Amino acid sequence: MRLSSFTLILALLPAFVAAQYDVPSAPFSLVVLSDNSTLNGTLLYACHEGAAIEGLCVGGTHDPAYNTYTHNTSSNAGEVNETLGAPGYLIWVLPGGTFNESEALSLNVNPISNVALPLFWPGTEDSTSVAFDSNGLLNIQGYFDDRVVPIVGSTSYVAYYRWYVCSTYYEGYTYQTLAWALGEFPPENPTCQSVSVKQVFL
Ligand SMILES: *[C@@H]1O[C@H](CO)[C@@H](O)[C@H](O)[C@H]1NC(C)=O
Ligand SMILES: *[C@@H]1O[C@H](CO)[C@@H](O)[C@H](O)[C@H]1NC(C)=O
Ligand SMILES: *[C@@H]1O[C@H](CO)[C@@H](O)[C@H](O)[C@H]1NC(C)=O
Ligand SMILES: *[C@@H]1O[C@H](CO)[C@@H](O)[C@H](O)[C@H]1NC(C)=O
Ligand SMILES: *[C@@H]1O[C@H](CO)[C@@H](O)[C@H](O)[C@H]1NC(C)=O
Repeated sequence: MRLSSFTLILALLPAFVAAQYDVPSAPFSLVVLSDNSTLNGTLLYACHEGAAIEGLCVGGTHDPAYNTYTHNTSSNAGEVNETLGAPGYLIWVLPGGTFNESEALSLNVNPISNVALPLFWPGTEDSTSVAFDSNGLLNIQGYFDDRVVPIVGSTSYVAYYRWYVCSTYYEGYTYQTLAWALGEFPPENPTCQSVSVKQVFL
């Protein structure tokens, strides 16, 4: 009984909740698009924020290993809205010398702020599903909106583009990094500038 209702609930959930992201894309770089000409066209590179933890810093590096990403999507995702893009994990491979560690992006949430920090971590337990839309723009999709009363889930997704470049702080490191505003309001961090993030295949 328990099992069958659990199975039913799983069947009703939008397809990508339990998806396994095992199909890598071709490699690409991530380019910042902004009204600010200083930021516009700059690369995002993986920058050290702790042991095997990297943020996405503005400016790029000369080492292609730190400017190169892939997007792991699912081989059994079902129907994908190509306008919004297929959900998957944004991957950066940590060159460990004697090993290479495929790391997925997750949003690190600080409970006292509405600014979340995208970080690459080992393991995928807390990883965040992201997509690239038909214009190559990075988004995060949601299937319910808690601003709407009564609150209801949907079987279709909406893409959100709440990306900013801000001066961020994590475990002692302060950089100009990519950040994500949680919810509809502008980020409370006064250094944040609205940006888009574009996938440019190498
Ligand atoms: C991404 O996909 C590749 C190829 O299947 C796999 O080797 C890698 O472990 C995946 N990365 C993550 C973080 O799941
Ligand atoms: C930003 O760069 C893109 C492509 O490099 C260009 O098309 C766009 O006009 C630039 N925007 C601004 C505001 O400079
Ligand atoms: C443009 O971005 C640079 C780098 O973040 C910043 O120093 C500058 O204040 C920004 N300019 C405007 C007009 O916001
Ligand atoms: C895909 O998403 C777009 C944007 O939300 C929507 O307008 C369109 O109807 C969707 N297409 C399908 C086939 O669901
Ligand atoms: C890690 O990946 C790089 C680039 O693909 C490759 O040259 C290197 O041999 C790999 N190292 C290990 C230990 O697998």
